[in-house]
Amino acid sequence: MVRTAITRRMTFSSGHRLYNPGFSDEKNREVFGDCSNPNGHGHNYVLEVTVSGSVAEDSGMVINLKDLKRIVAREIIDKVDHRNLNVDVDFMKDLIPTTENFAQKIWEILDRSLGKGLLDRIVLYESENNWVEIRR
Ligand code: NI
Repeated sequence: MVRTAITRRMTFSSGHRLYNPGFSDEKNREVFGDCSNPNGHGHNYVLEVTVSGSVAEDSGMVINLKDLKRIVAREIIDKVDHRNLNVDVDFMKDLIPTTENFAQKIWEILDRSLGKGLLDRIVLYESENNWVEIRR
């Protein structure tokens, strides 16, 4: 079987503030810089979700992109788009909403939702120049 990867790219916008409640204001500014500004700021995120496996003979597909899109929308995009990651998103509760932490949560949720070890890789771009990648 030739393991074949297919990727769906989706975009959303979320706000956040990076700070550790255990740090002083000064320490937060030192560690997180402008990202720690008290009233937060937003990002236009790009999420790439790669699924891999064998190509089914009857469909010619690894996964139906329609299904992949629906699952990513339901499990992630609908919950984070136009929301504040610090206060509006249950799965980010009690986490510092860095791109690393955010990507790890997205991985856990999608891996569970897709099942069968289908999820191969995710890339979460916080900006054009900063992104996090998680691979199986
Ligand atoms: Ni930020």
